[in-house]
Amino acid sequence: MDYLKIEGKNRLKGSVTIDGAKNAALPLIAATILSKRSVTIDNLPPVNDIFTMLKLLENLGAEYRFKDNKATIDTTSINNTTAKYDIVRKMRASILTLGPLLARFGTCEVSLPGGCAIGQRPIDLHLKALEMMGAKIEIKQGYVIAKAPNGLKGATIVFDKITVTGTENIVMAAALADGESRIINAAKEPEVVQLCEVLNDAGIKIEGIGSDELLIRGSDRELLDIKDFTVIPDRIEAGTYLCAGAITNSCITLKKVNHAHLVSIILKLQEMGYDFEIEKEQITIKPASRIKAFRISTTEYPGFPTDMQAQFMALSLIAKGTSTIEERLFENRFMHVSELNRMGANITLNNHIATIDGEAKLYGADVMATDLRASSALVLAALIADGVTKVHRIYHLDRGYVKLEEKLQKLGAKIERMRE
Ligand code: EPZ
Repeated sequence: MDYLKIEGKNRLKGSVTIDGAKNAALPLIAATILSKRSVTIDNLPPVNDIFTMLKLLENLGAEYRFKDNKATIDTTSINNTTAKYDIVRKMRASILTLGPLLARFGTCEVSLPGGCAIGQRPIDLHLKALEMMGAKIEIKQGYVIAKAPNGLKGATIVFDKITVTGTENIVMAAALADGESRIINAAKEPEVVQLCEVLNDAGIKIEGIGSDELLIRGSDRELLDIKDFTVIPDRIEAGTYLCAGAITNSCITLKKVNHAHLVSIILKLQEMGYDFEIEKEQITIKPASRIKAFRISTTEYPGFPTDMQAQFMALSLIAKGTSTIEERLFENRFMHVSELNRMGANITLNNHIATIDGEAKLYGADVMATDLRASSALVLAALIADGVTKVHRIYHLDRGYVKLEEKLQKLGAKIERMRE
């Protein structure tokens, strides 16, 4: 297995280009199941989760070509509606095929995704919503067996909790349902917005895009004319590089970003004392004269994103004073704490609240990545640690970050990928 070897204490400089958003691309690839013709998607991030989703569609009978971050996907040849365990277990976002497969074919079997390091990750809200639309749902031998032989019916769905992929699944199901669906307490992340916009451009009338209430007029199982499109920039990758600039107190520029998706992250960094230059599609972060401690409570969009919690925990280690971070979305998203403490941090946990002493003296160490965003937090801490850090199990990183070590090397970090 590969690991990253990082020598700390290097300032960064220069610019880094942000790739397409993994969490926008995954539902959009699944949405091609609803299309009557092949669709070309541009600005796909070449990360493992994307290839897993493309492979899953291929297993169902679809065809795709992938070249230069562009995929042309033809799902007209799908002849199988079972998303098998050995693929789904690799990536829980495979559950995003459930809504479109059921809506188009009236029957499908999708392996239960199971939990992951950060939590249980149930899909009860997805299933309850599909039942409201007339589906018969059974759980058998680890599979969701969903049936709607006469198609799905438009319905009013109230999500008890805001769920990103739950909203995406139901938006895709509603797109082919008979009649109008109303989704109340919908997620409004930019990734959900782009899915709605692509379906709207394909002729599905969706009102309330970007709000927590969506009105979707379904096509009654008529396949859609989905137009080719380009995936939005990855706001979490962008936030991670802003943290790389911040933690090393450097001046770096991010290119191909959409700063409107980064408001809560930029405001938190400004509160800490960092300065910014914001232009059309690029952001420059500039050093802070005094880096202040902060309080964070992770919240659904447009609040502070849970996917940036680990990265800001690393950043809090250099702040003056004590910071606190409350993780409200996931029950176990503090796996990076013990690894950061092994590097010399002093972080204490009390249920869902982490208290972090600033001005920590960090030493390089062997550390273990546990999940995608925790891995990037360990890399950030390694950038300022005294000595060499080895981050092991970086297959977690490769799921969601494009060429992380190459991009950081170009910014002046001493980082390289090694073989165990
Ligand atoms: C999406 O996961 C993202 N993944 C996650 O990003 C992100 O952390 C999360 O949204 C929150 O923003 C993708 O978009 C592929 P949820 P998702 O359903 O949809 C509970 C990353 O790092 N819940 O919004 O699975 C759930 O347990 C990944 O890129 C139910 O109880 O998250 C959690 O507490 C990690 N029942 C909360 O809702 C359900 O049926 C939010 O989960 C569904 C969710």
